[in-house]
Amino acid sequence: MDFSLSEEHLMIRDAARDFAQTELLPGVIERDEKQHFPKELVKKIGDLGFLGIMVDPKYGGSGMDAISYVLIMEELSKIDASASVIVSVNNSLVCYGLEAYGSEEQKEKYLTKLATGEFIGAFCLSEPEAGSDATSQRTTAIDKGDHYVLNGTKNWITNGGRADVYIVIAQTDRDKGSHGINAFIVEKGMEGFHVGPKEDKLGIRGSDTHTLQFNDVKVPKSNRIGPNGSGFRFAMKTLSGGRIGIASQALGIASGAYELALKYSKERKAFGTEICNHQAIAFKLADMYTDIEAARMLVMKAAWDKDNGNNYDKSSAMAKLYASTVAMKHTVEAVQIHGGNGFVKEYHVERLMRDAKITQIYEGTSEIQKIVISRSLIRE
Ligand code: CAA
Repeated sequence: MDFSLSEEHLMIRDAARDFAQTELLPGVIERDEKQHFPKELVKKIGDLGFLGIMVDPKYGGSGMDAISYVLIMEELSKIDASASVIVSVNNSLVCYGLEAYGSEEQKEKYLTKLATGEFIGAFCLSEPEAGSDATSQRTTAIDKGDHYVLNGTKNWITNGGRADVYIVIAQTDRDKGSHGINAFIVEKGMEGFHVGPKEDKLGIRGSDTHTLQFNDVKVPKSNRIGPNGSGFRFAMKTLSGGRIGIASQALGIASGAYELALKYSKERKAFGTEICNHQAIAFKLADMYTDIEAARMLVMKAAWDKDNGNNYDKSSAMAKLYASTVAMKHTVEAVQIHGGNGFVKEYHVERLMRDAKITQIYEGTSEIQKIVISRSLIRE
């Protein structure tokens, strides 16, 4: 058992921390206010190798491990969770899925560009009537020999208007239920593919979220990922890795809020002393730090499971469930510690509080994580 990080991991963490401080922090309030997608910053994130963190260098990736991924995600999320969700989706839902299940041709054509940031990816599973109940896909892909014809609507798609490559989950044989689902690579610009208006969101407002419409889109058969009928399992395995990304995003939001609250409490005075000297505030700090450290252990354990070839369905669900709960609870406390200042944008904590909420919802709600965890426990 070794709880310390290697020299290499510390260097990666410091590089991400430095980038977040120097590049993401300036303008983060304005990007949130104006719902401005950080296009130039995403390019720089790609140049650092953070859009293909775990991808094999032969496909243009950085060849790092999942622990590095978590460290990078935490540091970026402390400052800008809108930027970090772009990183999480591109890495775990798009690059990972293609590398693990895609054909050599698909990897050459798409993964090499996605891993370097030349392309941005999106993952399209949710629908107006299929969110948590992901097997109830209404989007259809009809087999026409050398191609499929795709019809349907996808909702709340991260990178929806900005992506170049979309992984779309669709029903190919309704009678087969979850075994009649496939995953397809759809390119921006394919005829019949339309991007709907941008969502006006509570949090992660700098990220780009849209409804997508597919009207008779012809998708070549070579763009189906994996064997026929494997799309639901593909989505579930991919989401297990995605949940490590979102858990580390939640960890970063919580630890970012904690660091701001600690600093503020050591500067702000009331009743003749810095407010950290009042037990009411000191105990809040103690609770925040303890919960964040517990969340960190779960997040690291899930990443360690992935790096060591263990099944990480349960550990990633536990990490996401716990870290997102901690993020929500303690960003509220960080606002409380800041008092009136916590309620204004300049102090950053109100944004972190708004950003925290989505970590309990996307890539499987907290209730869905409990289904995943309890089913694993009963099966074991
Ligand atoms: N690995 C491999 N196979 C799996 C699996 C996994 N992790 N999970 C399920 N399966 C298999 C099952 O074994 C089963 O196969 P058999 O029929 O051969 O036994 C099949 O898939 C169906 O599984 P279930 O019966 O368990 O399916 P279910 O309908 O009960 O649903 C669920 C299970 C866990 C609730 C699933 O629907 C789920 O995860 N829902 C949440 C979806 C979600 O996370 N959406 C997020 C959207 S993406 C997003 O937010 C991205 C973004 O932009 C940020």
